[in-house]
Amino acid sequence: MDWALLNTMDLSVSIGSLRLRNPFIAASGCFGYGLEYAGAVDLSTLGGLVSKGLFLKPREGHPPERIVETPAGMLNAIGLQGIGVHRYIAEKLPELREHDATNIVNICGSTLDEYVELARILSDAEGVHALELNISCPNIKEGGITFGCSPHGTFDVVSAVRKVTTLPVIPKLTPNVTDVASIAKMAEDAGADAVSLVNTFLGMAIDVETRRPKLSNIVGGLSGPAIRPIAVRMVYECRNRVKIPVIGMGGIASVNDALEFIIAGATAVQVGTANFVDPFIWSKLHDGLQSYMERHRIGSVHELIGTLDTAKREKEWVSS
Ligand SMILES: Cc1cc2nc3c(=O)[nH]c(=O)nc-3n(C[C@H](O)[C@H](O)[C@H](O)COP(=O)(O)O)c2cc1C
Repeated sequence: MDWALLNTMDLSVSIGSLRLRNPFIAASGCFGYGLEYAGAVDLSTLGGLVSKGLFLKPREGHPPERIVETPAGMLNAIGLQGIGVHRYIAEKLPELREHDATNIVNICGSTLDEYVELARILSDAEGVHALELNISCPNIKEGGITFGCSPHGTFDVVSAVRKVTTLPVIPKLTPNVTDVASIAKMAEDAGADAVSLVNTFLGMAIDVETRRPKLSNIVGGLSGPAIRPIAVRMVYECRNRVKIPVIGMGGIASVNDALEFIIAGATAVQVGTANFVDPFIWSKLHDGLQSYMERHRIGSVHELIGTLDTAKREKEWVSS
């Protein structure tokens, strides 16, 4: 171990005006409101944590079954169950502040006005560090994903939220589109500070004995290692299209998985489904990144972002 390098190693990254201690963020819906994990993980050691999606009002979500295990992943149709923004501010934020957590709040709306109202309310709340706009949940019928599936819908919601907040605005993009990079570009043009991707892929699973869908909602969102190669490709495409930071996620379960995203162009990464398998993954990611940087003589994560070398592969292709 090169202790001199370790002491000067800089794991921090910047998302707009927000500085994260390291690039590892807990993904929305897979880490509760953060406090549920506080007994197992020191929240101040994470780069950040994204809350479960919040509407203005509490929501029940869908009835069971809401989760199905699939090969190398899972399908969920929780239906954005949540406590609503007012209870989050009253009951969760004060304790999250005590834990010195970097709080990114995932907001959901059925209408554009709801996103704006949520952004206004959260901008006045102490301890909120950024807003992630959930315009990509595949499990609810109203609002949300209808914005995220359309370049103009994305532009409208991001620019409306931009006007009412100085917090970093991070629209979360859906992979359920043909050209995710064009949606990222619209988000950038509308004033987003970063984009995050991917949300889950729309899928379904069937019980062949009963011939019924396994999920009460019939369809659900696929997450976990099964989606990782597609998510990495989408992050790479967005990196090549926009100048704002890209936050990558989809099936990260080890430091090498996270490194794939960072090398493809992600400034930070989110970890979702892996929390259900290994709640202690965070220290492994942190230590793994440090030892990778030490091995490759890299002093700062920024030196790694988007360093994918395609030149040799392209040369081989041309000469064959
Ligand atoms: C059970 C569950 C609940 C989720 N809830 C939300 C949510 O409330 N808001 C959101 O934007 N994404 C939500 N997601 C999507 C994740 O944040 C993430 O984008 C996706 O699962 C891909 O990452 P992963 O493969 O690491 O899980 C949820 C995912 C799962 C598995």
